[in-house]
Amino acid sequence: MKIIVIGATGTIGSAVAQALAARRHEVIGASRHAALAVEIEEGTSIQRLFDTIPAIDAVVCCAGNATFGSLASLTDADYQLGLRSKLMGQVALARIAKDRLRDGGSITLTSGILATRPMPGSAAISLVNAGLNGFVRAAALELPRRLRINIVSPPWVKETMVKLGMDPSTGLAATQVAQAYVASVEGQHQGVVLDPAHLPPH
Ligand SMILES: NC(=O)c1ccc[n+]([C@@H]2O[C@H](COP(=O)([O-])OP(=O)(O)OC[C@H]3O[C@@H](n4cnc5c(N)ncnc54)[C@H](OP(=O)(O)O)[C@@H]3O)[C@@H](O)[C@H]2O)c1
Repeated sequence: MKIIVIGATGTIGSAVAQALAARRHEVIGASRHAALAVEIEEGTSIQRLFDTIPAIDAVVCCAGNATFGSLASLTDADYQLGLRSKLMGQVALARIAKDRLRDGGSITLTSGILATRPMPGSAAISLVNAGLNGFVRAAALELPRRLRINIVSPPWVKETMVKLGMDPSTGLAATQVAQAYVASVEGQHQGVVLDPAHLPPH
C-alpha cells in the first residue's frame, strides 16, 4: 500500500513509519518541517499534500499538539491550541482524506489514554482525546467507498517518559504502540479506538 504518515519524525510516528516500511508498504513521511511539508491546522496545506502525492491507500496521523497544565493554570489559548491542532487538525485531515483516498482506503488518527484515564494536568488533552474518539466512532458510520477510519489511543510511551524524566516502567515501547497502527491499516477494523496494550484480533 501507498501510505502517508503525518508526524513521521516523531517518537510514535517514526516507529509507525518503520513498522509499515518493514511490511513492504510504500511509506511517505510528512510533517511541518519535513521535505514533504504539511501543517494539519491548515486545510489548504492538507489538500496540497494530497495534490502532491496522488493515489494514496492510507493516511496515518501521529501529529497534533495540546497543552498539559493544571486546571488553575490552563488559559483559553491553551485549550484553543488543542482544539485547533490535535482535534480539528485531525478532523480536517479525515474530512479531506475521505474525498482523496483510493476506494477501500483507510484513515488512522491518534488520541491517547488521557481520554479515559485522566490525571491532574490533563484536562485540555483529555477533552481533545475524548472528542477525537467520539468523532471517529461516528464518522465510521458514514464513510463512503468502503473507506475505513480508526483511532489509536496510545498509553504513555516509554521513550517519551524517559525524555520527560518519568519512570518508564509503566509505559509501552514505541515499537509496540506502532503495531496498533499496522493493525488499523492492514486489518478490517472500522470505527475502533485501538488500545496498543490490548489489541483486538484483526
Ligand atoms: N508520546 C506519548 O507518550 C503519547 C501518548 C499518548 C498519545 N500521544 C499522542 O501521539 C501523538 C504523537 O506523539 P509523539 O510523542 O510521537 O509526538 P512528537 O515526538 O512530538 O512528534 C510529533 C510529530 O508530529 C509532527 N507535527 C507536530 N505538529 C504538527 C502539525 N501541526 N502538522 C503536521 N505535523 C506536525 C512533528 O514534526 P514537525 O515538527 O516537523 O511538524 C513530529 O513529526 C500526539 O498527538 C500525542 O498527543 C503521545
